[in-house]
Amino acid sequence: MKNIIIAIDGYSSCGKSTLAKDLAKTIQYHYVDTGAMYRAVTLYLLQNHIDIYHPEMVEQALPAISISFAYNADTQSQNTLLNGENIEHEIRVNPRVAGSVSEVSAISAVRRFLVQQQQAMGQKKGIVMDGRDIGTVVFPDAELKLFVTADPQVRAQRRLDELAEKGQQTTFEEVLANLEKRDSMDSSRTDSPLKKAADAIEINNSHLSKSDQLKLVLQLVHERINPIASSIE
Ligand code: DC
Repeated sequence: MKNIIIAIDGYSSCGKSTLAKDLAKTIQYHYVDTGAMYRAVTLYLLQNHIDIYHPEMVEQALPAISISFAYNADTQSQNTLLNGENIEHEIRVNPRVAGSVSEVSAISAVRRFLVQQQQAMGQKKGIVMDGRDIGTVVFPDAELKLFVTADPQVRAQRRLDELAEKGQQTTFEEVLANLEKRDSMDSSRTDSPLKKAADAIEINNSHLSKSDQLKLVLQLVHERINPIASSIE
């Protein structure tokens, strides 16, 4: 069976990470959450009091940042490590990270720094990567590109539930405002804005269950991995 690259892009909190994780697990591929990498860089800059509005200072700080992923067998989940320290929880719940990550990810030096690492991770293929520019910039030749969307109200409710599960109290209005601000910044930035690649397949999952969505995507994967068998079926 041939190994392929699966690129999943889409707006904040549209369930792309859950889809990417479930998919990677089912087909035994590596999974890379590139949003976690931008969040990790943001956390580093905040912790080290580096002014995110000074791109030259940010660029100078980048060589000191090492990001890796570790699988936790107990929770069956992936943890993000920043210079060896587990920051998974922090990058998900710290509102300062959510509030600054769009600014940080608009800095070209940050994008160059992370895109290079992401491309290296996909060299052997057999990978599911999710983000905003995976099908357009990181892997423009990916064999399967998905663009996941969901209505903003649905996404805000999902994010609110996720934060509540992590013990973070906030309001629906606050979550929706942050989400819309990030959508608008991610789509309008000059360097690698979030957009659907011309050859990406769009999935709106507002009214789609997780398992139906996975089934649909598995069929698409199957067609790419095993084109002859798929055409006979
Ligand atoms: O997927 P996420 O919400 O964890 O991503 C956090 C931020 O990182 C998001 O606001 C945009 C940015 N990002 C990006 O610019 N490019 C990527 N490939 C992934 C994320």
